[in-house]
Amino acid sequence: MYHRIWTFVNVFLIVISIVYIWIFRSHDSSLIVTGQLLAQVGLILLLININMYFIFLVIRKTSVRKVKIRLAKFSRHFMKWHIPIAIWGTVVIAGHALINLTQIGPVIGFAHFKLLTGYLSIGMLCLTLFAGWLRHKKASGFRRKFHLTAAMIFLCAFVIHMFVLI
Ligand code: HEM
Ligand code: HEM
Repeated sequence: MYHRIWTFVNVFLIVISIVYIWIFRSHDSSLIVTGQLLAQVGLILLLININMYFIFLVIRKTSVRKVKIRLAKFSRHFMKWHIPIAIWGTVVIAGHALINLTQIGPVIGFAHFKLLTGYLSIGMLCLTLFAGWLRHKKASGFRRKFHLTAAMIFLCAFVIHMFVLI
């Protein structure tokens, strides 16, 4: 059951973002296109990190021993990449934000809903990073919940941000 929702969310977000960005929002300015490319790459990197939730969820819930062991091994190796992916994703998205703040902000106005949801997304991303760092230092029930909740609100925020029309 979980793997269906999991696969659906991923395929949906990746396919829809590719179709949406590259077919419906084509621009002539190469700088703006770079901003879009950064958004696409950043989205995929950060989505990989969010997927850790589903992996841990399946490990907890599955009654198939083989799946449990295999995923546990996989996640142990894969978590080595969690922090580098978070940092690279943030750097890439910061480039996206900078380009759009300088190129699109002055055109549509800095209080446009597209930008407001952008500020919210990057704010939630920073909170997720901070919560991740807290959790990394010392795990507790609260810290675990804090990092997970921040990550999920971040996911909602950037999905809304992505689909706000200009
Ligand atoms: C201060 C922060 C941000 C600002 C000012 C901002 C601004 C924008 C703007 C103006 C667009 C429309 C660009 C276009 O029509 O080509 C856009 C699109 C997008 N943004 Fe952001 N953004 C910010 C943060 C984020 C964050 C944190 C994410 C998280 C992944 C994100 C993901 C996307 C995606 C996926 C798109 C659709 C692709 C595109 O059309 O460029 N943005 N953003
Ligand atoms: C872009 C930012 C990030 C996102 C979207 C993200 C997302 C997630 C998610 C969804 C989980 C699974 C939570 C669960 O099921 O309880 C997780 C676990 C974790 N994250 Fe992050 N994270 C990010 C950044 C970071 C950073 C910067 C750190 C550390 C400095 C970090 C440290 C951890 C740790 C220690 C775990 C627990 C792993 C375990 O239980 O073995 N995360 N993260």
